[in-house]
Amino acid sequence: MNKEQTITGIIRGTGACVPKRVLDNNEIAGFVDTSDEWIQERTGVKRRRIVESETTVSMASEAGRQALEEAGVLPEEVEMILVATGSADRVFPCTACQVQEALGAVGAVGFDLNAACSGFLFAYNTAQAYISAGIYRTILVIGSESLSRLVDWTDRGTCILFGDGAGAVLLRAEQGRNYRPAAHSDGKGGPALTGPGAVTRIRSIDGDSSKTKTEYITMNGKDVFQFAVRKVPQVIQEVLDENELSAEDIDWFVLHQANARIVDSVARRLRLDIEKFPMNLQEYGNTSSASIPILLNELNRKGVLREGQKLVLAGFGAGLSWGASILEWKSGSKTK
Ligand code: COA
Repeated sequence: MNKEQTITGIIRGTGACVPKRVLDNNEIAGFVDTSDEWIQERTGVKRRRIVESETTVSMASEAGRQALEEAGVLPEEVEMILVATGSADRVFPCTACQVQEALGAVGAVGFDLNAACSGFLFAYNTAQAYISAGIYRTILVIGSESLSRLVDWTDRGTCILFGDGAGAVLLRAEQGRNYRPAAHSDGKGGPALTGPGAVTRIRSIDGDSSKTKTEYITMNGKDVFQFAVRKVPQVIQEVLDENELSAEDIDWFVLHQANARIVDSVARRLRLDIEKFPMNLQEYGNTSSASIPILLNELNRKGVLREGQKLVLAGFGAGLSWGASILEWKSGSKTK
């Protein structure tokens, strides 16, 4: 518990980029047996964006560029780029290296981090650790996903949920309170939500092409739902306790945007007003590691976030993985 002012990462810029192509529920109902009404009632999602010409790298780069611009930070000043993604365009080079090249952030070290829908939160925590250890002072943290490429578009249980996009924050080392995060993984629960194998063989070493598999996202929706509504309130309480705060001290709970019923349930279990839980999943679906920074950017650009307000960020997803972090919003001096 460290309440005194010390070195911490402050968000000085945000950015987001979503593909142009809008895919609404009615269009999905044209190729799988579902309906706009069913999808909205069970998930809250109305439409989502899906990549056509955009890529995980191009969206990440644009989101990052916006965050730098708002922060008034030059690409050459960035010391580290962390990209959270579960849908990189390539296994390597990593997305972060391609973003470095696109932005001209020649001095930055970059790597990707995959913790599925918890990815942005875990990348944010990693960046904070580098900053509080005094290693780097200027870090770009991005979540970027092209999940539409991993979805089985014949499976109505999963294809209705996901969308593509990217969000970014620029962290700068400043005086401030260093909040301790709470984060967990449970590999045993992994089979509840899986993505495709990272490597697809065109031809196996022994020449047997029948070993080539086409894999998609698979999910046990009920198990994932139960996991989320149980673990997210617990980890939020844990991070509050850890930092000697109560839920009433928090102005906004920025949760991973998976499903409106999950967000509602978390608010209810914590006995908090749903108004403190902003949502934009109606527009974008579940964009996995991009959902928290896309929402943060929206709240920032709309002027919803005010100087000194306290936010809880909470992520959860495949792994299984889940976690929560606290931050204090600073505004009005983005370019200083
Ligand atoms: N349209 C219409 N019917 C659908 C459907 C769809 N898109 N998807 C499933 N159904 C049907 C099922 O086939 C089932 O029919 P049956 O009763 O005839 O067998 C019925 O609806 C109920 O299915 P079920 O899976 O029990 O629905 P649900 O209420 O659990 O809702 C999810 C399904 C996926 C919306 C829900 O489980 C969920 O949101 N889970 C969490 C998923 C998530 O957030 N994952 C990412 C976490 S990071």
